[in-house]
Amino acid sequence: MNLFDVYPINDITIVKAKGSYVWDNEGQQYLDLYGGHAVISIGHTHPHYVNRVTDQLNKVGFYSNSIRIPLQQELAAKLGKVSGRGDYSLFLCNSGAEANENALKLASFHNGRKKVVAFSKSFHGRTSLAVAVTDNPSIVAPINQTDNVIFLPFNDEAALEACFQQQGKEISSVIVEGIQGVGGIREASATFLQKISQLCKEYGAVFIADSVQCGYGRSGKFFSHDHAGVDADIYTMAKGMGNGFPVAGIIIAPHLKPKHGLLGTTFGGNHLACAAALAVLEVIEQERLIANAAEAGSYLIAQLKKIPGLQNVRGKGLMIGFDVPEPWKDLKKNLLFNQHIFTGEAKPNTIRLLPSLALRKKDVDAFIESLEEEIHVLEGAARVTE
Ligand SMILES: Cc1ncc(COP(=O)(O)O)c(C=O)c1O
Repeated sequence: MNLFDVYPINDITIVKAKGSYVWDNEGQQYLDLYGGHAVISIGHTHPHYVNRVTDQLNKVGFYSNSIRIPLQQELAAKLGKVSGRGDYSLFLCNSGAEANENALKLASFHNGRKKVVAFSKSFHGRTSLAVAVTDNPSIVAPINQTDNVIFLPFNDEAALEACFQQQGKEISSVIVEGIQGVGGIREASATFLQKISQLCKEYGAVFIADSVQCGYGRSGKFFSHDHAGVDADIYTMAKGMGNGFPVAGIIIAPHLKPKHGLLGTTFGGNHLACAAALAVLEVIEQERLIANAAEAGSYLIAQLKKIPGLQNVRGKGLMIGFDVPEPWKDLKKNLLFNQHIFTGEAKPNTIRLLPSLALRKKDVDAFIESLEEEIHVLEGAARVTE
């Protein structure tokens, strides 16, 4: 049997990983500034994480949500503390798309409405509702198409206000990333998020903060939306939550009420997933990784800004992007194959950096040196072809 060929892959086989590094099957070491799409939050194979998951696996790996799972309560308490949202409730699931699917559904159950406001360049996942609120028609199948989604320009407060004035009583929810990831590291402005919060309150709509990529401390605060001083009604989380173990969740403000059977999943919140998620939060706390993300991120951004030719260096904490001019379009590929550094991209010309929150200054310095070297080579090649 062949694999269903949907992923454009790099011809690299990773066999070992530690902290911010991975190694291929020929022993080559790579600096990982991408974390497999922003997933590696506390660093690869962190000893506390490995021990907690291994210990749990030796006790009980899985049982369904038909019995008491005290680890879930322990996780909820820890998450409430670290996120500063102790009065919210936690529903656990398995992926970012599933988290958003549940958030949109819960909003609609809550207010009985159907319309959702989403924004240009948003990415919220690939399941039915999540993809319907994603601004990329090429991944929306005919069966996912719906008239219930209103796309507005990102960061356009006037358009948002006008939309609520016209159809505010029909709007169930507004879903927004605090910093768009797939869309190219584009930050929602503080005033835009404050406007969403205000209009949702005024019209009885639910404010959904998609924190799947920009959350879990990556921006230098637990939720990137926290930089705007707003409280969303639902936060969705995934990627960094399990440091690679598939675990996701939504946290829900107290005015949204549960009912038996309203939401559900077989795998969500299983013992092993909770152990992984708890280990991540314990390391985030013990090693002050949110503060490290803020500090290492500011340093990295400052260093990038000093490099002539890199355009629009932007981001917060360790969610960073910059644009590369056309003659340097091979930069990402060259960083990977010549310098052995993983980075990410966003179309058409953005390089995205989403390293572990434990990134060290020496790794930033090594990256900057490699980046300058590759730019120098590309500059030379561009001059020859002129
Ligand atoms: C902001 C955002 N939301 C949702 C998702 C979907 O997450 P998953 O791939 O775990 O379904 C992603 C994935 O990249 C994302 O970046």
